[in-house]
Amino acid sequence: MKLLTIVGARPQIIKAAAVSRAIKTCADDSLEECILHTGQHYDENMSARFFDELAVPRPTYNLAVGSGPHGEQTAKMISGIEQVLSRDHYDGVIVYGDTNSTLAGALTAAKMQIPVFHIEAGLRSFNMAMPEELNRIVTDQLSSICFAPTQTAVDNLHREGFLDSPTLFARQRRRNVVLSGDVMLDNTLHYAAVADQQCDILSRLGLESHSYVLATIHRNYNTDDPVRLTQLLMTLATVARQRHISVVLPMHPRTAHLLASAGPVPELEAILTIPPVSYLEMLQLERHAKLVMTDSGGVQKEAFFLQRPCIILRTETEWTEIIEHGAGLLAGADADEILAAFDILADRNIVFPPLFGDGYAAEHIVNKITDYLKQ
Ligand code: UD1
Ligand code: UDP
Repeated sequence: MKLLTIVGARPQIIKAAAVSRAIKTCADDSLEECILHTGQHYDENMSARFFDELAVPRPTYNLAVGSGPHGEQTAKMISGIEQVLSRDHYDGVIVYGDTNSTLAGALTAAKMQIPVFHIEAGLRSFNMAMPEELNRIVTDQLSSICFAPTQTAVDNLHREGFLDSPTLFARQRRRNVVLSGDVMLDNTLHYAAVADQQCDILSRLGLESHSYVLATIHRNYNTDDPVRLTQLLMTLATVARQRHISVVLPMHPRTAHLLASAGPVPELEAILTIPPVSYLEMLQLERHAKLVMTDSGGVQKEAFFLQRPCIILRTETEWTEIIEHGAGLLAGADADEILAAFDILADRNIVFPPLFGDGYAAEHIVNKITDYLKQ
């Protein structure tokens, strides 16, 4: 049985690492995995580095689509994936999350009657202005198995009629919804201790444990408008100055490009901006931060896994459990709300219950896929 795993963006390479590991350790020899990289992310520090660091098998195919407008980028991916799926036989296609690479993989495979396995299914922000919301809704609709990381995700799919839908998918099979847990938790548990042994990013940056804020920003609605982006970064600089704490920001290339086009902003010198870091370095930075501020889905969750409070630089989140358990606050890009959230979370006593699975999500997923394909 042959699976094609489709990745394209940084977090997908990271998520694929957990499942590739599980395929190697718990699947019998009957399951073979090939990897297709769409090339959505291509800088060394957004792509190749993660294959090496997390021992993900090198992609058999790299479509090298690069950046571009959504339609053009997705169309190039669809065309390339179709060629690969036409040339070789695959029994199933694995897609992750909600990027354009996810959508392209799901749409192409479903049209070719190849079962789609969607990992991180059922997430909803209920904000249709987000490109990711469109990608994940369509991908869920096309998937033979929706692997939901949380009960909230299962509930979302239930509400949308997924659990009792009569629709037949590839091989004339009904759709499955599986509460698998989150493969990102698997990775965090697997690598957190190693990160502290192998990385020296804290000492290189001159940071002491629990004495800095870790920030990331890359969502289109925070970056595309130069005024909003500059104000948000100036707020981080204000946090640094007024709360006497370092703020370190590994900068996503999208943010770096848009900030460069906005022109120089001297106030931003109060923030320690650095290029994107490796996964192990990021785990170390997250684990030792006093607090995390982010608009990233993955970074929000890793903050929770590593028991750090998180200010979410958005007005809504798919990971509502984090808010409900008091481990995070939504603050959008508003300066007053961000400062108020900092003051609340800096002193809050937080309990972090195990809401994202048992740390073996990837194994559950591989076992389920194997059973499904054997039937
Ligand atoms: C994409 C995903 C987003 C995900 C994020 C993870 C979509 C619609 N968005 O957003 O859901 O959270 O990846 O990081 O799929 N760029 C580079 N080098 C690279 C990659 C990108 O310079 O290696 C720059 C280019 O200017 C590009 C911009 O970043 O135009 C945006 O890249 P793109 O992949 O379109 O979207 P992301 O913002 O990365
Ligand atoms: N990450 C990383 N280096 C960085 C920033 C993030 O390794 O400089 C990792 C982070 O630990 C998490 C994933 O990238 O595992 C999150 O990806 P990103 O924020 O790009 O996308 P999102 O999760 O929002 O889709």
